[in-house]
Amino acid sequence: MRDQRFGREAFRDLLPADTSASLLFRDPPDHTRLRNLLSKVFTGSLGADLRSKIEQIADGLLAAREELHEMDLISDFAAPLPVYVISDILGAPAEEREQLVLRCREIALGTDGEADSSARARAAAAHDEISKYFRSLMAERSKRPQADLMTRLIHAVDEAGHRLTESETLAVCEMLFFTGHQTTIDLIGNGVLTLLRHPGQLQILRENPTLLSSAIEELLRYESPVQRTGRVTNSAVEMGGKTIPKGRVVLAILGAANRDPSKFEQPDRLHIGRLGNRHLAFGLGPRFCLGAMLARLEGAVAIRALLQRFSSLALTTGSPVWRNSTETRGLLRLPVSLSRST
Ligand code: HEM
Repeated sequence: MRDQRFGREAFRDLLPADTSASLLFRDPPDHTRLRNLLSKVFTGSLGADLRSKIEQIADGLLAAREELHEMDLISDFAAPLPVYVISDILGAPAEEREQLVLRCREIALGTDGEADSSARARAAAAHDEISKYFRSLMAERSKRPQADLMTRLIHAVDEAGHRLTESETLAVCEMLFFTGHQTTIDLIGNGVLTLLRHPGQLQILRENPTLLSSAIEELLRYESPVQRTGRVTNSAVEMGGKTIPKGRVVLAILGAANRDPSKFEQPDRLHIGRLGNRHLAFGLGPRFCLGAMLARLEGAVAIRALLQRFSSLALTTGSPVWRNSTETRGLLRLPVSLSRST
């Protein structure tokens, strides 16, 4: 993950031009330039009231389910929360966020490995509509600036005095919107399911809320939302007694590294108080996840809000449904029953 002989730029030949404009498919020096810029702009857009905004969103979603005594934890809670949060940061007006949530759900259902052709077509249409939406938001913010991430991206200037081009700005917005929500949905969904499957650990967490941040790290390690990432060799690389020729795609299986017995004691055991938990769920090195702080906060607020509001939370007879993917690990559905804390 730190070795610069493994790059991402060569993936660009395989991608549509608008996708490849973001930093995900650049190598230094372009990657460094875009990353420094984005890191500054993104952090600057989070705002001091971020935690309370996320708490309000979480509470609103849970209050709506309270009287029903059951919910699909994914579509009713884990999925809308990160979409609302990233939409708010980008600057999408509140009344338009519900539409974004619905479109994201179509995309999640239609990009699953087992989706049929009509679900795939709906996902493609939903993706196009989101792109169109961000294009119109960009045009609107160019005319009438606001204190949001979209406006900041439009006006951002890098170290060399360059602005992002229009297509770079759009690619960055979409990249933040998509990478920023699905992975966080998976953190919340996988996290809750894992806790429900480990009632002893869940009880410890209920009794010791200060363990929440180490619990989040352990859930990230144990059921990593991003299971693998890829690179292309920029030159021939000697590794483990083998030569990988230049131009080969190499996969790093983060999910396996996070269960490595030489790094983690009893790696297959969930231990929410685990110390020295140096997992790779957010990657490592120059491409370490830019949204890690936001994702950790959303995960912690979501799980705290759930546990505080509901004294009992249980799996129902409906089975959890996993997405069919080897790249990311997450649930499409997680039916749970609830009863309220008195
Ligand atoms: C639990 C949630 C998340 C997980 C597990 C996660 C995981 C990762 C991983 C593994 C990488 C490194 C990929 C690589 O090296 O090839 C990464 C990069 C990245 N993530 Fe996240 N991520 C999460 C949430 C977010 C959020 C909320 C945002 C922003 C809103 C975000 C934005 C990014 C960006 C921009 C990069 C690329 C950084 C670069 O190439 O320099 N992520 N993420």
